[in-house]
Amino acid sequence: MTDLGPVPWPPAPIRTERLMLRAAEARDRAGFVELYASQEVHTYLGGAKPRDEVDREMPAVPGQWPGSFVVVLDGAMIGQVLLRRAAEHARPAAVGKVDLGYLFLPRAWGRGYAAEACGAALDWIEGVLPDEPVVLATQTANTRSLRLATRLGFTEVERFWAWDAEQWLGLRPAASA
Ligand SMILES: CC(C)(COP(=O)(O)OP(=O)(O)OC[C@H]1O[C@@H](n2cnc3c(N)ncnc32)[C@H](O)[C@@H]1OP(=O)(O)O)[C@@H](O)C(=O)NCCC(=O)NCCS
Repeated sequence: MTDLGPVPWPPAPIRTERLMLRAAEARDRAGFVELYASQEVHTYLGGAKPRDEVDREMPAVPGQWPGSFVVVLDGAMIGQVLLRRAAEHARPAAVGKVDLGYLFLPRAWGRGYAAEACGAALDWIEGVLPDEPVVLATQTANTRSLRLATRLGFTEVERFWAWDAEQWLGLRPAASA
């Protein structure tokens, strides 16, 4: 099971100081293709597929499931924040827990947008699942991602080797803990 369970979805669009988070819509498709075909975005995620393949395989409305937020800046998609239940995971400590992922277009890096969007998504999950911690796995070589994880309040559980690289597993305690 990868779903979050009985959480209300989609929530009303979430507004932050500069951004909006909402469920995916058909108009986001081009943004998803750009995001998933970007080699830079996938440097630490095993590399991106060729753009034509990504385009061919992308559904008409991509990323349409509870916990998948499109991040919008001034009307344009700049990234995706994902909260999923880790049904299967390389580390037992993460199995069954809610897992945070994030992908932003390189032109939106270095402005604090990912931190702002992930903070809002974590506030949302705290509201609907207050008793659940959140885990996050990222390559230790992915220094931007590690800095973001730390800024969001994740602390190291362990490091492990998978997918030909050292990985970092972090955990953010439940709001009610
Ligand atoms: C991981 C990723 C989301 C990080 O993006 P990011 O823009 O570096 O993250 P943040 O939103 O936390 O931005 C932090 C930077 O913005 C800067 N910044 C500028 N203005 C800011 C503001 N108003 N508020 C906060 N930070 C600001 C910070 O100083 C920081 O700069 P630094 O990187 O030089 O230290 C992005 O690199 C990415 O999408 N990577 C590809 C996908 C990926 O690897 N995902 C991980 C899988 S889990």
